[in-house]
Amino acid sequence: MSGKLRLGVNIDHVATIRNARGGDFPDPVRAATLAADAGADGITAHLREDRRHITDRDIDRLMAEIDLPLNLEMAATEEMLEIAVAHRPHAACIVPEKREERTTEGGLDAAGQREHLASLVERLGAAGIRVSLFIEPTEQQVAAAVSLGAPVVEFHTGRYAHLDSEARATELKRIADCAALAVKNGIEPHAGHGLTFDNVVPVAAIPQIAELNIGHFLVGEAIFTGLYASVRQMRELMDSAR
Ligand code: PXP
Repeated sequence: MSGKLRLGVNIDHVATIRNARGGDFPDPVRAATLAADAGADGITAHLREDRRHITDRDIDRLMAEIDLPLNLEMAATEEMLEIAVAHRPHAACIVPEKREERTTEGGLDAAGQREHLASLVERLGAAGIRVSLFIEPTEQQVAAAVSLGAPVVEFHTGRYAHLDSEARATELKRIADCAALAVKNGIEPHAGHGLTFDNVVPVAAIPQIAELNIGHFLVGEAIFTGLYASVRQMRELMDSAR
């Protein structure tokens, strides 16, 4: 599974800036349109339970106004399941969510939460939504995703992003090994969290990985260079790795 690596641009933090003042500016849907022009293949948005960035209205508008596929990140709750089924985005990525965390910290315990996740994965799939599980790159979590019948896993790259170089190489190998294991079991591997211009290339070079979801860095870099340029440069770095 080599070939073109898809870029999903996460626009949550455009909404974070908007919400700092209330009102409508900056508009995450405008950011999604610009990201599409700059080479994004999909838009990712996390409707958190506390609505701290993306809101229900943003999801309505993204579904109505954006041509790219939407990947809805969601907690494993009945409320989020109902919202997903009502909107039928292209994909839903189930993530762990704690109210007090600043961002998603670590992957989902797909192995430990098997019972609870099974019904959610099944109902999302029945609604025609491609389900992805955001997991740590471990054999145990891949095995749990296989047993849950998830078509996609997204490997959490947060540890990789924050480690120093020697430990980072070990973590990169874990991601690569788990990507190969996922493909062997018929699962499409994605990756994301904490990716930047400086650390994206080794992850993008893992041939089995089909998609990267990147947000915070791209929105931060956009302050200096503009969103079009930051997405464009990420796109080029990803392409250069293949
Ligand atoms: N993938 C998932 C599942 C996430 O929860 C996040 C953060 O919302 C990302 C990717 C993007 O991470 P970052 O904002 O650090 O690029």
